[in-house]
Amino acid sequence: MAAFQSQWTGRRARHARMHRVGATALALCAWGPTASCGGGDEILGPLYTEIVVTSDFAWDLPPDFPAPRVPEDNPMTPEKVELGRRLFYDTRLSGNETQSCASCHIQEAAFTDRLPRGVGSTGDVHPRASMSLTNMGYQPVLTWANPNLTTLAEQALIPMFGEDPVELGMSGREEELFARLEAEPIYRRLFPAAYPDDPVINLSTITRAIASFQRILISGNSRIDQARRGEIALTESERLGQNLFFSERMECFHCHGGLMFTGTNDFDGKSSPEIEFHNNGLYNLDGNGLYPSPNFGLFEFTQRPEDMGRFKAPTLRNIELTAPYMHDGSVATLDEVLDHYSRGGRLIAEGPNAGDGRTNPNKSEFVIGFELTARERQAVIDYLKALTDHDFVANPAFSDPWVEGSRRR
Ligand code: HEC
Ligand code: HEC
Repeated sequence: MAAFQSQWTGRRARHARMHRVGATALALCAWGPTASCGGGDEILGPLYTEIVVTSDFAWDLPPDFPAPRVPEDNPMTPEKVELGRRLFYDTRLSGNETQSCASCHIQEAAFTDRLPRGVGSTGDVHPRASMSLTNMGYQPVLTWANPNLTTLAEQALIPMFGEDPVELGMSGREEELFARLEAEPIYRRLFPAAYPDDPVINLSTITRAIASFQRILISGNSRIDQARRGEIALTESERLGQNLFFSERMECFHCHGGLMFTGTNDFDGKSSPEIEFHNNGLYNLDGNGLYPSPNFGLFEFTQRPEDMGRFKAPTLRNIELTAPYMHDGSVATLDEVLDHYSRGGRLIAEGPNAGDGRTNPNKSEFVIGFELTARERQAVIDYLKALTDHDFVANPAFSDPWVEGSRRR
C-alpha cells in the first residue's frame, strides 16, 4: 500500500479527480465469514456499489476505501490539514497551556489516552473514556452517545470550552486564545494560507482546520485489510476468529460491522448516513435498566426510557491499542470484553453499581451470550488484534509537528 504508507506530502491534484473503484465484488468476496466470492453476502450486504471520489484533494486512501464526506463549507486543502495538525498538538489551546487535543488522543494509542476516563488540564475527570480518532471522517455522529453532534468542527468546541468537565479550559478566554495564536509566526503564515477568504484567527477557522486534520487520520492497512485485498493470508487462528466474529453465535458483526467495524458510518457519495446506538448490557442498577449517573447514553438526549444505556458501538479498528474499554473504561482487557459478551451482559455482584446486565430490559437482542472453547476464544482475540494498523500509529504525517514536541505534553 505504497500510497497509504507514504507520508502525506501536501500535494494537491491539479484537476478534479474522479476515480472509480469497482468495490462491490471485492468487498463481498472478502468480508463474508466463508470468504466465498460470487454469490453475494447476505450478512453484510453490499458495502459500496461504486466508489466515486470527486474532490480535488489528494486523499491518501487505502485502495478500497471511499473518501470521507466533507462539509461543503470546509473543503479539504493541504494548508488546512497542516494548520489543523499544528493546532491539534498545540498546548496553547488550553487555559494553563498544559494540554492539547493530543494529550487525550495519543497517536501511539490510536489516538486514545490509555486511561479509563479522560483527565482534563485542571485535573477534572471526565465521566467517559477518551475515544479513538480512527477514521473520524467517516463518523456521522460524534462522542459516545450524542445524536446531535454531527460535525468535527462543532465537536472541537466541547473540549476547548466545556466547563463540566473542564478539558482544555478555555471558557471565556477566546480573546486570550486568539492573541496567543497570533503571536506565533507559523500561524501568521498558515491561517491566511488555509482560509484565504477568511484569513483571521477565530473559532470558525480554528475548529474547521482541526477537523480537516482529523479527516486524514485514516486507518486501512491492518492485516485484515491486507488479507481482504489479497496481499497476505490470515493465519488459521485469525480465520477461525473471523468466522466466529461474523457468526450468528457471537453476533459481533451486527454492531461492529462493515469496512469501519462500527454500525455508525458515512462517506462521500453514500445516500444517507447509518447511525445506531445500542445497549450491550453493561449495567442494570435497579433491575429496570438503570446505568450509573451521569452516563445514561442516548437517554440523556432523548429522555426516552428505552434509550437508557444505549451508546455508539465504537470502531474495533486498532482495538488492541485502545484499552481500557467501554464508555467508562470499566472493562480492562479484550479477554474481559469476551467474558462480558459470552455471559450476555455483565454481572456486578456488589458495590454501588451492583446489578445483572444480562437481564437489562433495554439490552439489544444481539447480545445473547455464547460459549467458546479456549481455542476459539484465542482465535477471536487474534482476529481483533489483526485489526491493528501499525502504519497508522507510526505515520509521521499524523504526528506532532512542533520541534521536539515543544507545544505538546
Ligand atoms: C481531557 C481529555 C480530552 C481532551 C483534551 C480532548 N478530548 Fe476528545 N474526547 C475525550 C473524551 C472523554 C471523549 C468522549 C466524549 C463524550 O462521549 O462525551 C472524546 C471524544 C472525542 C471525539 C469523538 C470521537 C468519536 O468517535 O465520536 C473527537 C472527534 C474528539 N474527541 C476530538 C478532540 C479534539 C479535536 C480535541 C482538541 C480540540 C480533543 N478531542 C481534546 C477526551 C479529550
Ligand atoms: C448490540 C450491538 C453490539 C454487539 C452485538 C456487540 N457489540 Fe461490542 N459494543 C457495542 C456498544 C454499544 C459498545 C459500547 C458500549 C458502552 O460503552 O456502553 C461496544 C463496545 C465494545 C468494545 C469496546 C470498544 C471501545 O473502544 O471501548 C469491544 C472491544 C467490543 N464491543 C467488542 C465486541 C465483540 C467482540 C462482540 C461480539 C462478541 C461485540 N462487541 C458485540 C455494541 C455491540
